[in-house]
Parts: sequence; C-alpha cells; structure tokens
Amino acid sequence: MTRIEVKPLATSVGAEVFGVDLSGNVSDAAIDAVRQALLDHGVIFFRNQSLDVDAHKRLARQFGEIFIHPNFNTGEGDPEVVNIVRKPGDTHIVGEEWHTDTTMMAEPPMGALLYAIEVPPVGGDTLFSSQTMAYERLSDGMKALIAPLKCVHTDRKVAGPNSPIAKAKRSTKARFDEDWRETRNAHPVVRTHPETGRKCLFVNHSYSIAFEDMTEEESQPLLGWLMEWGHRPEFTCRFRWEKGSLAFWDNRCVKHLALHDVQGYDRIMRRIQIAGERVV
Ligand code: SIN
Repeated sequence: MTRIEVKPLATSVGAEVFGVDLSGNVSDAAIDAVRQALLDHGVIFFRNQSLDVDAHKRLARQFGEIFIHPNFNTGEGDPEVVNIVRKPGDTHIVGEEWHTDTTMMAEPPMGALLYAIEVPPVGGDTLFSSQTMAYERLSDGMKALIAPLKCVHTDRKVAGPNSPIAKAKRSTKARFDEDWRETRNAHPVVRTHPETGRKCLFVNHSYSIAFEDMTEEESQPLLGWLMEWGHRPEFTCRFRWEKGSLAFWDNRCVKHLALHDVQGYDRIMRRIQIAGERVV
C-alpha cells in the first residue's frame, strides 16, 4: 500500500512529499496522491530521487503529454527536455524574473518537473508564489475591475535577436536567431483553474506586456502593480535544492523565480514540461 506523506512548506503554497520513489513504475494510487498534493499545494518537492531522462519522461507522461518548448528547441539535443545550466560567469540565467512558464502560447503548459543534477552547496534556490492566494486577497473592487480584462503575452523579451538577453552570457541558450518569430496570445487576467475551479491571477513579468486593446503605457500602472502584488512574501515559499531533488509545479496557478545569487559553482537542472490547455 502506498503511504505518501505531504508536509506543507508554507501556508500559501508548496509542500514536500515523502514516501514515493518516482524512478520506477509508479502505481496509479501514488500518481493520484501526487496529483492531489499538487492541486492542494500548487508546487510539490521530492528529495533523493534518481531520475534518468527516460524515467523523467515516463513520470511526466503520467500527468499529460510532454510539451515541446519552441524557444529552447534549438535543433540540438532532445526536444522534450530542457537542460537548464548555469556556469560561473553567467550574467543571466533562465527564469530570473517572476514568471509563469511559456505563457505566450495559446495553450501554456500545465506544469513542469524540474530535476536537480548538480547544485551549489548554498544558493540557487527557487521561489514560488500562489496566484490563487494573490487573487483571493485582492479587494472586491479590484476583482471587479480586472474580471473582464485580457492580457497580451509575448516571448519577445526572452527570445529572438532583439531580446535584452540575446547577447548576455547565459549558458542555457534559447532561440535568439534572426529566423525566430514572435509568438503572442491574449489570456484572461484572471483564470479559473480547470481542476480545482479556483480563480487565479494570470499575469507575469517575463511575458505579459499590455491589456488587450490598450497600449503598453496605458496598461503599465495596473499591470505592473498586479505583477508585483503576485509575489508578496505571504504568497510564497522558497525551495533549497539538493542533488536528486525534484520540483513539480502547477503552472496554471503558481509563479516562480530562479535566484541568481551564486557564482563559482555549476548548477545543472533538467526540466520537462507538461502540455496544458486554453486559458479560461
Ligand atoms: C525555470 O524558470 O523553469 C527554472 C527554475 C530554476 O532553474 O530554478
């Protein structure tokens, strides 16, 4: 019988899950328990896992189809896998702003499984923030104001030749070539989680640029405020990685940020994303 223990890391978001080995054939009961923990806590963490690429993919497929990232799929390596690597001297890293992954897509990924292959002795933590709580703590007036709004999301800040990071020293390369084309889609500012039915704020620094039918300048005061509000300390948790740790976040209701606070060590992670659905 599966005996999975779930220990919350914070009141808002995040829990550590014990008692499950994710490397082999994980039972249906264990997968159900993991999925429930994800829905309850937004992001869940596992320690001491031993996941090669095949096991990592097998695990991801138990939660949905694997998402192929258009900007990390540079034609080299396995398109189903993104290796997120930091080396000493990197001036920029993947995910250093508060963001939800890949929201320029019409159907952004539902989640991601990030596995630690090599981590520094200290530093390189990842922060997560509950967008469910961020929404629920808004005043009724603000909820009414943003209810009808849609926001335009684009990947032009994080990819393409004009991206501010195109020329930066960053070990993990994305598509910064001239043939790259922008992807942009509008999503509701407040989405309803397709499984829990709870409402969440759905704007983020990496991709959201303007409310639909408004200019960026007009949008900025409210959009900027919502994006900052979305990571107030009480909505967050912080995860300290060890080799063999795995984080599984629900990209529909959680934002995250990779801390760029360590030099002198390699940090090597493997990420597999799971396909999602249209945002409503
Ligand atoms: C990401 O934003 O997916 C990367 C997070 C991390 O490297 O901690």
